[in-house]
Amino acid sequence: MIGRLNHVAIAVRDIAKATAVYRDTLGAQVSEKVAQPAHGVSTVFVNLPNTKIELLEPLGDNSPINKFLEKSPDGGIHHVCYEVDDIIAARDRLKAAGARVIGDGEPKIGAHGKPVLFLHPKDFAGTLVELEQA
Ligand code: CO
Repeated sequence: MIGRLNHVAIAVRDIAKATAVYRDTLGAQVSEKVAQPAHGVSTVFVNLPNTKIELLEPLGDNSPINKFLEKSPDGGIHHVCYEVDDIIAARDRLKAAGARVIGDGEPKIGAHGKPVLFLHPKDFAGTLVELEQA
């Protein structure tokens, strides 16, 4: 059911510093920083030949990544994003299998302007999983 790895998201306290590491130390192509107020984060995308890295920095007081950064002050891998052809069909299949969809279960428009859902890490090998309808 899942297709390509769309991105790996890394949460950081200082996105400018993390962007510089990817751009200058690792020699990667990076995007501009974009505020995503609806998601409580700012993002920078690192474009790799076969996938992307999504750098996330908290935006606002109620950022959903604040708790993660309290536990991992140096930052770390926050989620992985897999592409699916039909996000509603994928959600219904996963729910029927007993997996937990985070939030109200309805897809939201993600950082790429496409519908996304998040799946509970306890059901997926301890990893927060994002599904994106490609
Ligand atoms: Co993501």
